[in-house]
Amino acid sequence: MKKPVTVGVIGCGYWGPLLVRNFKSLPDCRLKVVCDVNTQRLKHISALYPDVEGATQPLQLHNDSSLDAVVIATPVKHHYPLAKASLLAGKHTFIEKPMAASSAECEELIDIAQRNGLVLMLDHTFLYSSPVQKIAEIVQAGDLGEIRYINCRRLNLGLFQKDINVAWDLAPHDISIILHILDEFPIAVNCQGNAHITPGIEDVTNMSLFFPRQRFATIQSSWLEPRKIREMTIVGTRRMIVYDDLRMREKIRIYDARVERPPHYDTFAEFQYSYHYGDSYIPYLHQEEPLKLACQHFIDCIQTLSEPLTGGRHGLEMVRILEAAAASLKKNGAPVTFSRSTGVAPAPVPIQAEEILPTGAFAG
Ligand SMILES: NC(=O)c1ccc[n+]([C@@H]2O[C@H](COP(=O)([O-])OP(=O)(O)OC[C@H]3O[C@@H](n4cnc5c(N)ncnc54)[C@H](O)[C@@H]3O)[C@@H](O)[C@H]2O)c1
Repeated sequence: MKKPVTVGVIGCGYWGPLLVRNFKSLPDCRLKVVCDVNTQRLKHISALYPDVEGATQPLQLHNDSSLDAVVIATPVKHHYPLAKASLLAGKHTFIEKPMAASSAECEELIDIAQRNGLVLMLDHTFLYSSPVQKIAEIVQAGDLGEIRYINCRRLNLGLFQKDINVAWDLAPHDISIILHILDEFPIAVNCQGNAHITPGIEDVTNMSLFFPRQRFATIQSSWLEPRKIREMTIVGTRRMIVYDDLRMREKIRIYDARVERPPHYDTFAEFQYSYHYGDSYIPYLHQEEPLKLACQHFIDCIQTLSEPLTGGRHGLEMVRILEAAAASLKKNGAPVTFSRSTGVAPAPVPIQAEEILPTGAFAG
């Protein structure tokens, strides 16, 4: 029998209570304590879970020798100091997305976790969801052919954040899915946007990620949209997938649709695109709460001391892309390039000094 893992959760605002519920439900996890500096939030959670201790200071968790792990669900600016204190106190650490406010902070957290043999996991929740796992499986099996582009729309009215713009708030979900599906790090990023409500905090952004072999992805993020939209289209040379995360069932549909150019033609009159409209089908998806699977994965990784599917490196890659997008926003959408990585794994690479790419540079 594996030893149960004793966990504390810091941050009981909007997302923290979902983590509390899930960690509480896991058989090999003991949720010992929840913490929030806001006593109202703490009272609310304590009323729901009277057997769980309440703390107003994170230090109480870091000093508790019976705690194996700490979960951080606070606003982004607190992630780094809280995670650093947690890791230095010898606790396995689970951090909400995005990992930290800068890639330098992420690197330091990864280093501390590695030096101390601790599990560092990021909550990139969608990678634990069955639609995304199914899409990755289909793409990796080559059923779509070569991926041409991915288009994502994550739009709704609010919730306005005070410390991060909409790209840092919503795009991490899309970025994590895109990197997982393509299994590759982009060579360049650009981003445009506008702050309509809170000065200096963009509430609408359009980001593009450019990959080798002319593959690219676009991500539209908005807090200023009357409808809630969570859609992604993955276009391959042979088939296409539409993923609508708001559908209760049938979240993904695969279209046997494509368009081809004629291989040879002599005159313009002979030139005809060939459109193929075949069947569409909806694969079966096992329904399970992705956050529960993510929480279980964290516990499993601690018990087996293994690297999570969404470890520190994934968090760092995400923050590098967000930093590049922020740099591009400041330059009205000029592309920001990453230096080319070598090797199979998409190793995190530094951003070069906001270089504007020459025409055709995206062709890998
Ligand atoms: N994975 C997902 O799908 C998902 C969804 C929503 C939010 N999130 C992430 O969860 C995190 C929290 O977001 P939220 O919307 O719940 O924020 P929130 O503002 O609603 O809640 C944060 C809570 O943390 C508390 N807090 C702040 N600093 C603290 C500190 N130093 N010590 C203890 N408590 C502290 C606040 O009092 C507040 O109650 C963010 O990183 C966000 O990006 C992830």
